[in-house]
Amino acid sequence: MYKISQLAELLGLSRTTLLYYEKLGLIKGQRMSNGYRSYGDKDLQRLKLLQNLQAGGLTLKECQSCLDEKIDRALLKQRLSELDQEIEKKQKSRDLLAALLGESRLDEWHSNLNNIAPDAHLEWLIKQGFDEKQAMHLKWLSKDMNEHERYMQDFMRVFEALERWGPGSEFDTDKALGLLPDKSGEWLEIGCGQGIATKLLASHTDAHITAIDNDQPALNFLDNTLQTLGLSDRVTTVCADMGKLPFQHGTFDVIWAECSAYIIGVENALKSWRKLLKPNGILVVSDLVWRVDEPSQDTKAFWQGEYPDMTTATSRVKLAQRLGYEVVNSFPISDESWDNYYQPLSQRIDEVEKVLEGSSAIESLKREVEAYQQREHQFDYQMFILRVAE
Ligand SMILES: C[S@@+](CC[C@H](N)C(=O)[O-])C[C@H]1O[C@@H](n2cnc3c(N)ncnc32)[C@H](O)[C@@H]1O
Repeated sequence: MYKISQLAELLGLSRTTLLYYEKLGLIKGQRMSNGYRSYGDKDLQRLKLLQNLQAGGLTLKECQSCLDEKIDRALLKQRLSELDQEIEKKQKSRDLLAALLGESRLDEWHSNLNNIAPDAHLEWLIKQGFDEKQAMHLKWLSKDMNEHERYMQDFMRVFEALERWGPGSEFDTDKALGLLPDKSGEWLEIGCGQGIATKLLASHTDAHITAIDNDQPALNFLDNTLQTLGLSDRVTTVCADMGKLPFQHGTFDVIWAECSAYIIGVENALKSWRKLLKPNGILVVSDLVWRVDEPSQDTKAFWQGEYPDMTTATSRVKLAQRLGYEVVNSFPISDESWDNYYQPLSQRIDEVEKVLEGSSAIESLKREVEAYQQREHQFDYQMFILRVAE
């Protein structure tokens, strides 16, 4: 037999709680001759069972009816499914803590956070000690802060040997150029990379071009190319962040951005770059867009992970109009433009794969090449020629 204080100690409960249970009729103490209550093993076991049920999320009342009546199966089924959901959530939280400690990969978590809270994600990365450029690379490329350094090394090993860093061609750049009313004045190229389009803009126009990128080695490569081609006086390269461009409002006649606006988000790019244009200035921008309403499951899943903001050309046109542009023209780049990028990329992956065994960068680039191979015209790279509306 147990006194109430002994029972409380055995169960890790307070005396007051036990008195309350007594009042509810969950336990029944015997009054002894000295006036104290005493409890038997049956009470102890009943309370242990009650504690187990409570830990499963049942209320006291539900526990009581479970103990005293026939089990309510519907109620238990519902609690079971709630418990499963809670466990799944906790498991995710556990996975996250383990991944933050470097015990597993973080890419899925970074991708999810990037979808639901992109600004908070970037701010948080910067608090973890990454600079803005690294944070952007992490957001778009490595998607795992524990693997970031190795990923970027491998990624650059692939790309340093490729002149073109995105789909495009001389044909399509020229086609867009042909739609411009004037090919002179002050032009800005954003995210020029190693300058595949810059060379063409410099040699096919009379404009002075400021070419910006945040990758200094790429700009050095471009400077050398321009020197060799005798075009140095036509282009000024500037290492700058496309999200914080160091130019006065109303400076440029034309802004050219092939395969780069997605980096700061097309809406943000269209808004902030418009301010740098003169009245009636032109923005030429390319963006990856859906061409069909119902892409295959694999293709959809791939691009939702890589480019969650991807939409249709029609909705980009509406966006541009809402942000104060007239759409001069818009066309999808040619198949040749896709091949110009993915064929050398694929060959380069084959070359370096042997020496970069187990590289996540190589694996994700291979997945991208695969998505391209299964394109079947489900998506396009669309060129938009926009003019600042009066
Ligand atoms: C997909 S590549 C396109 C390069 C080039 N336009 C082409 O088609 O080959 C994107 C370019 O944007 C540059 N970039 C990435 N983030 C940037 C940023 N925040 N500011 C400026 N340039 C950036 C990269 O270094 C890279 O050269």
